Amino acid sequence: MAKTNDSRLRVWDVPVRLFHWTLVILMAASYFSGRAGGDWMKLHFWSGYAILTLLLFRIAWGFVGSTTARFSDFIKGPSAALRHVAELVGPDRPREAGHNPLGGAMVLVLIFAVLAQVVAGLFSADTDTGMVNGPLTRLVADAWIDKATAFHKTWINVLLVLAALHVLAVFVYLAWKRQNLVGAMITGSKPIDDVVAPGRPAPRLRFASGRLALSLLIACAAIVYFIVR
Ligand code: HEM
Repeated sequence: MAKTNDSRLRVWDVPVRLFHWTLVILMAASYFSGRAGGDWMKLHFWSGYAILTLLLFRIAWGFVGSTTARFSDFIKGPSAALRHVAELVGPDRPREAGHNPLGGAMVLVLIFAVLAQVVAGLFSADTDTGMVNGPLTRLVADAWIDKATAFHKTWINVLLVLAALHVLAVFVYLAWKRQNLVGAMITGSKPIDDVVAPGRPAPRLRFASGRLALSLLIACAAIVYFIVR
């Protein structure tokens, strides 16, 4: 059940928040270690495996996790997204417990865009030195390694643009609607006024168990281990 006090409502579970901020740290680690090359490639590989584990976990959590973590809660289609834009430009504020329909679409894009980057990395190699080979390069022909490597090197720029847009959107909500989405992603709770109109009942949110989250995370790490070993 969602915990509520007079003014705030718990909306994000711990797994979603840990997923998000760990992903941000690992993305930064992957980016800088990839650019540095050399011995840093060890870190690049390990952070890539950790990101893959997190993404598999988050996709599974999108089906069995807490209410606001579920894809069914925030994948709403174009008409809901348009209604949300109307709320955004109108005088009132959008009210959602979890992701709004526009943000939800972006979340899906981000998850699968990062997944594409990591999967390409598994098949990529440093063709200049031949010293750094992704763990799955042995499974495919050289032509596919070249394609995956080119994709991995180019797609990172798309990810940077997506991440910049994502952060920009978060600050637009803060500046335009005075809604602190970052605070909610850190503390897990939102002011009740950001979730429901005054006088309306708070939504009934269900929170999945931490034990389920931990078991799923271990299962995802095991899958990644068997893929890359
Ligand atoms: C590499 C950079 C980033 C990536 C790939 C990323 C990805 C994501 C993803 C996948 C979600 C959905 C979380 C979930 O439902 O599990 C999300 C939500 C969110 N992210 Fe990020 N993020 C990045 C950086 C940041 C940064 C730097 C900030 C803070 C300034 C931020 C603030 C947020 C907030 C506030 C939400 C919740 C949005 C909402 O209320 O709908 N993100 N992000």
